[in-house]
Amino acid sequence: MCGIVGYIGKERAIPKILNSLKFLEYRGYDSSGIAYVKNNKVNIIKEVGKIKALENILDINIDSKIGLGHTRWATHGGPSVKNSHPHKVGKFTVVHNGIIENYLEIKNELLKNNIEFKSDTDTEVIPALLDFYYRSDKNILSVIKKTINRIKGSYAVGIICEDDINHLYAFRCGSPLIVAKDDSGYYIASDVPAILSFTNKYIILEENEIAVLESNRCEFYNLNLNKIKKEIKVFEGTYETIMLNGYDHYMLKEIHEEGKVFLDTLNYYVKDNSFKDTMINLKKYKRIHIVGCGSAYYVGLIGEYLISEFANIEVTCEVASEYRYKKVFYNDSTLVIIISQSGETADSLAALRMAKENHVDTLAIVNVVGSSISREADYTLYVKAGPEIAVATTKAFLAQATLLSLLAIKLSGKLELLKELNGIENKIEYLLNLDYRDYAKEIYNHDNVFYIGRLIDYALCQEGALKLKETSYINALAISSGELKHGTISLINDNTRVVGICTKKEIMSKTISNLKEIKSRGAYVIFITNEDIEDDFYDKKIIIPKVHDIIEPILTVIPLQLIAYNVAKYRGCDIDKPRNLAKSVTVE
Ligand code: M6R
Repeated sequence: MCGIVGYIGKERAIPKILNSLKFLEYRGYDSSGIAYVKNNKVNIIKEVGKIKALENILDINIDSKIGLGHTRWATHGGPSVKNSHPHKVGKFTVVHNGIIENYLEIKNELLKNNIEFKSDTDTEVIPALLDFYYRSDKNILSVIKKTINRIKGSYAVGIICEDDINHLYAFRCGSPLIVAKDDSGYYIASDVPAILSFTNKYIILEENEIAVLESNRCEFYNLNLNKIKKEIKVFEGTYETIMLNGYDHYMLKEIHEEGKVFLDTLNYYVKDNSFKDTMINLKKYKRIHIVGCGSAYYVGLIGEYLISEFANIEVTCEVASEYRYKKVFYNDSTLVIIISQSGETADSLAALRMAKENHVDTLAIVNVVGSSISREADYTLYVKAGPEIAVATTKAFLAQATLLSLLAIKLSGKLELLKELNGIENKIEYLLNLDYRDYAKEIYNHDNVFYIGRLIDYALCQEGALKLKETSYINALAISSGELKHGTISLINDNTRVVGICTKKEIMSKTISNLKEIKSRGAYVIFITNEDIEDDFYDKKIIIPKVHDIIEPILTVIPLQLIAYNVAKYRGCDIDKPRNLAKSVTVE
């Protein structure tokens, strides 16, 4: 997803912006650009590809004390220099994250007014509108207000006006944007990691708020152009928490943080085998809808099994992009739980808003503090994963699964289950330290991998298959084992790699008989289980330490993550920034 940075202050803007752009790389991008001021004119440098390519054509010694930077993830118009941001029309230069849904309508209107467009993007209508309104109204704040009232969609926008180079303007709706401050000046950025090498003090810009930054002060306005006061927040983590710390990739580093993440999440809600006040009371809810996208949906499926099984409550789990458009039945005792690492996923946010419009209570399970979903939900339970940089989520998934186990215990009233979570961090460490390279070697040069399992193991299969797909580009398919005979088994031959997951005693024999059918058709089987079964229906196995069912999924996911990581490494993939993917999907 696109990333935005901006700076105005006493120091040179370009080195700062380049630095910040590098911390936004994890969001996924295909081109980048920078705007700066020289001789009172805004200059723009853009390049397709990595930020290094931009750096190669940029003179970092240019003495501009104001600038905007952008990493673009193509939506409207392919990756090219002309479509990269910043975009300049007349006096206004803009960087934008999000989508302007009514851009065609606006563009057609502006074309009739002889305004020229140089790109295929939706973004260009923003500087074009600003410049158009500015012709008859020289008050920039009022011009911004008119522009906000005209555009529809999601946007975080940074602006420089050539007639006012001592100010940097910003506004947002839907897409995230923060303002930050250090001793030298002010910044705007899409997220906190982008500015963390300069400062940990930041302010969250809310929907339809406008920020006006000067080198030594900053003002905020609402859409009525009344001045508003904003709270300065301090980011708890350190710069080191988002550095690689010697690991080859963020994905590997983040997987290896899982023991700590488990403990941090547990200790935030539980002390001495009792819930702390940080855990909310959910007694009144008899029906739960869990909603999320991608891995957040798969962890939601785990939540569905755990809560319905242990708390005896009707739970359904749905993909947010489906949920938001279907007919949903609510009643007074319904709770909608939105799961999201970033807290900014567009479909998940829309599902949350839909539930709220229907006056249903909402609970957010979110990692990024202060994100849109966390702010808009009635209740928020944070997972304590810390900043997650790799596009493929790993430690946040484990933290979410941990929290869902806690919710299942809370809702069930079986508080004695809390003691089952003691010492799990040691079992996590054990699994993290196994060598998964031999498993990966069996997979990395194959085109198709199937993951089979039932019930909660099937949810884990879906997560395992997604991890492999997104990091290694192998076609990986999760199949509910009972469904094999209804079609998919025809794909099995001696070239197929199968990961079979079975962690439940009650259904062990069922899944094993499916694996036997697969093995007898020549497939190579990796069996992941918590029972030490000696048999010939698998080629390799991974034994997960035996723990209570309430917490078991967080162990089984670890080998799946590390197998995917090692396969991607053998295939030489760009592990932390897989092609075509963005860390946070803030547009539909
Ligand atoms: O930030 P969110 O948890 O809302 O993101 C949801 C999905 O986009 C995300 O889980 C995605 O599927 C990951 N790339 C999976 O690793």
